[in-house]
Amino acid sequence: MEKKVTLTIDGQEVSVTPGQTVLEAARSLGIYIPTLCHYANTTNVGACRVCVVEVENARSLVASCCMPVSPGMVVRTNTPAVRAAQKMIIELLWSSGDHNCLTCEQNGACELQNLIYWLKIDKPRFPIEPPGHAMDESNTMISRDLNKCVLCGRCIRACNEIQVNEVLDFSMRGSYAKVGPAFDTDYIDSTCVFCGECLQVCPTGAITFKQAKFAGRPWELEKVHTTCAYCGVGCQMDLYVKDNRIIKVMGNREYGQPNEGSLCVKGRFGMDFVSHPDRLTKPLVRRDKKEDLKEVSWDEAFAFIADKLKAIKSEYGADSIAGLASARCTNEENYLFQKFLRAGIGTNNVDHCARL
Ligand code: FES
Repeated sequence: MEKKVTLTIDGQEVSVTPGQTVLEAARSLGIYIPTLCHYANTTNVGACRVCVVEVENARSLVASCCMPVSPGMVVRTNTPAVRAAQKMIIELLWSSGDHNCLTCEQNGACELQNLIYWLKIDKPRFPIEPPGHAMDESNTMISRDLNKCVLCGRCIRACNEIQVNEVLDFSMRGSYAKVGPAFDTDYIDSTCVFCGECLQVCPTGAITFKQAKFAGRPWELEKVHTTCAYCGVGCQMDLYVKDNRIIKVMGNREYGQPNEGSLCVKGRFGMDFVSHPDRLTKPLVRRDKKEDLKEVSWDEAFAFIADKLKAIKSEYGADSIAGLASARCTNEENYLFQKFLRAGIGTNNVDHCARL
């Protein structure tokens, strides 16, 4: 049997796997410890210190997201010293940015805003001094407002450790510190592939979904869990819908496999076609080369296709026909398609556009 480590958190005893952190142990007990820079499945860097706790006999407060459990440890998560430290940290973060919730796209879904409310902070004790960074509106998909960045580094780790694109990192020092591509370029001039992982993990309004701007507040959007239809991987995603229109798309982390919450550029940003007015929703048939396409019923369309296929097969043979299946169909649909070509038409000329 696997050895366990037993410790006490807020008076409750818990046994966890060696190597787990105090944060993980507390969460297994249902004890809430606030976090900002922590993001599961990436390196714990202890950048923000919001998750501090008291550990008996430790010289100072410790960051629970980085502290491994040890036998007999006694942890307290809710003491006046812990709350005072958390308030100080949040007030410093608040005052060193332009956190203007009135116009922020993340209002209502911002982790910094939630922590300010949870810690009951009316306003910061320090003068608000935003760094005055220029906005990055260089592309049509991602907006970057580094004045709202809390330097948690989640976007950097998501870019480097989850997507392994290695585009983002910190630059500069102290109050000039910022996150971005090499040589301080905008996204469009960098090696960014626009997977959008950075906006998925950003806890504030620093990196946001550009197409969603002014299209709906977070509480107005209905979240619909679905499977991406772009290729055969089957990535799990959440569509954020308002008035039957998709406002934005986020990877679904809870479902786990196959994408663990990540998406590619097409899955995340290629959603306009769904409600595009030019989208084909009815079959169109051109009976004669000189004719325009005409809208017909599905029965008429299928009868037309069947007649044409029969005529071609009888005149030129089954191998004069080929079929190209779509990556947007399900495995079952593609199975049926090849079956139709092989058993129905009598040819092995079948291929599939299973590539991104
Ligand atoms: Fe632990 Fe930031 S969440 S240091």
